[in-house]
Amino acid sequence: GQIAAVIPAAGIGKRMQSEIPKQYLQLHGKTILEHSANVLLQLPVSLVIALSAEDAYFSTTPLATNPDVQTVIGGAERAYSVLAALKHLDAKQFPWVLVHDAARPLVQLRDIQQLIQQCWQSGQGGILACPVRDTMKRGQLRVEQTVERASLWHALTPQLFPTETLRQALSQALSAGITITDEASAMEWAGQPVQLIEGRSDNIKVTQPEDLALAGFYLESRA
Ligand code: C5P
Repeated sequence: GQIAAVIPAAGIGKRMQSEIPKQYLQLHGKTILEHSANVLLQLPVSLVIALSAEDAYFSTTPLATNPDVQTVIGGAERAYSVLAALKHLDAKQFPWVLVHDAARPLVQLRDIQQLIQQCWQSGQGGILACPVRDTMKRGQLRVEQTVERASLWHALTPQLFPTETLRQALSQALSAGITITDEASAMEWAGQPVQLIEGRSDNIKVTQPEDLALAGFYLESRA
C-alpha cells in the first residue's frame, strides 16, 4: 500500500547553542534534515515536512524541488507540527503514516522496513525503540528510587500509526493538555496499542552540540 511520512522539522534548536537550527547543521556535506528525509525517500512515500514559519534554509536544499516532498508550517511544539502535517494528508489515500524526527539522521532503512512489516502484519501501530543500558534513577537532587531497567526502552523514531487514529489521538491529547513528546504518548493516552520494535541504538537524536560529532563518527564507520 501507499505510505505517507511526516517529518517535524519546525524546531528552533534551543539546546544546540547554535544560530542554525539543528536540522540544518551540516553532516558530511548535507544537512541533518536531508539525511533524515533521504532515508524515508528510499521507500515509496509521500513526505510532508513541517517547517517553521521563519525557515530560511529549507528552500536552499534539494528537498525543496523533490516532487515527493510537500511542506506545511509547523506549530509551537513538536506535536502541533506533526498535527499540521497530518491535516495535510488524505487518510483514505494514506491509511498509515510514518513520523520521523528531522534530528535523527542515522536511521537505517532496514529498521524502518522491520517496523512497517511488524505493524502491517499485526494491524497495530508501533515505534522503533532500544533497551536502556544504564541503571535508571528517579529523583531530583538525590535518588528517590532505582527504576526497574528490564522493562525500559528509549523511544526512537520512526513511529508508525494509522493516520486517522493518530490525528484524533494527537488533537484530543493536545486539547486535554497532555504533555506529548512523541506520537506514541498520544496513542497511549487514547488507549491505543503501541508495539515496541527493537531498532539500532545508533539512531540517535542530535540534541546537544556533542551529538553532531558522534553522528559524524557513526556515518564514517558505515562507509
Ligand atoms: O526538540 P526535539 O528534539 O524534541 O525535536 C524533535 C523534532 O521535532 C525535531 O525534528 C524538531 O525540528 C521538531 N519540532 C517541530 N516543531 C516544534 C519543535 C520541534 O517540528 N515546535
